[in-house]
Amino acid sequence: MADQLLSTISRKLRSLPASYVRPESQRPRLHEVISDAAIPTVDLGSPDQHQIVAQIADACTHYGFFQVVNHGVGNKSMRLMMEVAQEFFQLPAEEKAKLYSDDPAKKIRLSTSFNIRKETVRNWRDYLRLHCYPLEDFTPEWPSNPEVVSDYCKEVRGLGFRLLGLISLSLGLEEEYMVKVLGEQEQHMAINYYPKCPAPDLTYGLQAHTDPNALTILLQDHTVDGLQIRKDDKWIAVGSHPHSFIINIGDQLQALSNGRYKSVWHRAIVNANKDRMSVASFLCPSNRVLISPPEKLLSEAGRAMYKNYTYEEYYDRFWSRNLDDEHCLELFKNASSLESENQASSSSGGNQS
Ligand code: OGA
Ligand code: NI
Repeated sequence: MADQLLSTISRKLRSLPASYVRPESQRPRLHEVISDAAIPTVDLGSPDQHQIVAQIADACTHYGFFQVVNHGVGNKSMRLMMEVAQEFFQLPAEEKAKLYSDDPAKKIRLSTSFNIRKETVRNWRDYLRLHCYPLEDFTPEWPSNPEVVSDYCKEVRGLGFRLLGLISLSLGLEEEYMVKVLGEQEQHMAINYYPKCPAPDLTYGLQAHTDPNALTILLQDHTVDGLQIRKDDKWIAVGSHPHSFIINIGDQLQALSNGRYKSVWHRAIVNANKDRMSVASFLCPSNRVLISPPEKLLSEAGRAMYKNYTYEEYYDRFWSRNLDDEHCLELFKNASSLESENQASSSSGGNQS
């Protein structure tokens, strides 16, 4: 219901409503977060392509996340996109109510939390979700500044395709490999608004999750931190430089790389004194595409980690669960790879209680 949008009600709330309070064991434990670690930065303007590819291989293997600078998307485009995003959430409540929906199947919708039909505790977040490809199909229905947003979407798509090329090369595949196998890719955008919050230690902006798509390109307000990623069993806070994007591997690139690259857990926390905005762009395989790693990677690994499935099957499964249940890819694991993992862990003495 639109009257639950935080952008409409949060200013009137003096304390955190019970519906947002996580049970003790699930709270963010902010004092344990590592704040001085950094994710790798890749300079896409470097003339040394070998170095770029090597840095991407390292980042995708060990972090699942990296930051890109000199990426070719214009500063102006990034600034305007952020401004449009901010203005949108300041619209009068009646305007926002027209766009409100909690049906994940809708292609343009404003909602709150993550999936209020499923979850028991809410997230301190509103979001506007837009389908963005093909642009002509969707721009006529976008709520505000379709020119700014569509220019931004085109530039980001270009960057995403370039990154998919570099990621293919970094796996020893031909540059076009990923772009070809992902088919006619959809592009979705989530404009996230995390208002300042009366009790950031009791709740999340977005609880731990992995992204179900192929590749995510995140624009964030670099003056307000909030994104954290899981690394070596700890949460690390991810800051960002002005004019940079944060890139992460989604579940589909983990599957297509046969588990070599990681779709890493991440979350957004909220702040007591500052609102935060982020704009996530998701490149998604075409619905009917069969997600199946290339022969080369299968023979290098000696086995297929996951069953083959279509993206449509995966996406339905993803939205039918809670965001922080087990990694959704676990549900698509091959029995043979589960067995060999169990053998590996029992022979190394791990995992025994
Ligand atoms: C997402 C996401 C992080 C952020 O939208 O999937 O992880 O910092 N967002 O807003
Ligand atoms: Ni995410």
